Amino acid sequence: MSDLPAVVRQDGLPASVTIYEVGARDGLQNEQTTIDTGIKADLVTRLLDAGLSPVEATSFVHPRWVPQLADAKELMTELVGRLGERARELPVLVPNEKGLDRAFELGLRHVAIFGSATETFANKNLNQSYDGQFAMFEPTMARAKHAGMTVRGYLSMCFGDPWEGQVEIAKVVEAGKRLLDLGADQLSLGDTIGVGTAGHVKQLIGAFAAAGVSTDQLALHFHDTYGQALANTYAGLEAGVTTYDASAGGLGGCPYAKSATGNLATEDLLWMLDGLGIEHGVDLDKVADTSRWLADHLGRPSPSAVVRALRS
Ligand code: HMG
Ligand code: MG
Repeated sequence: MSDLPAVVRQDGLPASVTIYEVGARDGLQNEQTTIDTGIKADLVTRLLDAGLSPVEATSFVHPRWVPQLADAKELMTELVGRLGERARELPVLVPNEKGLDRAFELGLRHVAIFGSATETFANKNLNQSYDGQFAMFEPTMARAKHAGMTVRGYLSMCFGDPWEGQVEIAKVVEAGKRLLDLGADQLSLGDTIGVGTAGHVKQLIGAFAAAGVSTDQLALHFHDTYGQALANTYAGLEAGVTTYDASAGGLGGCPYAKSATGNLATEDLLWMLDGLGIEHGVDLDKVADTSRWLADHLGRPSPSAVVRALRS
């Protein structure tokens, strides 16, 4: 039994939130150590067992671009063997029609496309121009929707870009609206390099609201490079957003974004939510045990403050 924070509720915050667990995808895509497919399947299974849902499992991207996730097909096949239909509910990333075809082959039901608010990152991450990425997404989205899939839209570089510097709020809103207009069921706003701060988060959510995008269409995806992820999450809660992307143990980072480090750690988020009395349905001890177990396989300790504190 771990320590628990005192519960002190705050007026105006949501009563419950959804944690969108990205540890098996964002968490592992940037790791140097090669992880066996069986260990990845264990990871996904343990995260589900801890109560996390959704658990993003992998990416159907080009294996040369992200070698760490080159076993996407083998992983999903293994998970279908272990979990049956439940495995087909796990979301996966697909950048294009080729990725979607690979998801179709396995009968998967939830995919995510991932775009950039900036020209440079669209080029580096997708080998596309800014406009070209939307042209690539359009048929992918249309076919996924026709097949009855849900499609999440990730948008990167919403708070700053390592090549282009500050990114205009209006530019982020324009890019996000394009993903929603294509048919994205949810828009996850990514602070890919972790430079955003709390006021910026509120300003961006307000700008989306002014453009007719409500908080229940949004998710927030913070990387913790500058230690701002929890403060930014609190700002998001105050603004009414109820879906937060997080990664068990605080692993993560995009191999094509200079200076991207780990995601907001799921355990750090759980600790804060517990203290605020916000429901989440996740067992903190089980997630922290999983992160310690995974750290042994990765050969380095979890960067999460809560994982380290619970151990001591
Ligand atoms: P490309 O080289 O321009 O691809 O890469 P292409 O369309 O020219 O095709 C070249 C070859 O790749 C062809 O094969 C295709 O079939 C094959 P060939 O005919 O030469 O034998 N191909 C594929 N193979 C497998 N799966 C596919 C696929 N597509 C084409 N899906 C591409 C374009 C988009 C494929 C490449 O740039 C890519 O894979 N990029 C992915 C990069 C990535 O995964 N980045 C990390 C995820 S995003 C992220 O982390 C940010 C996020 O967390 C939010 C945040 O933090 O901001 C989501
Ligand atoms: Mg990310």
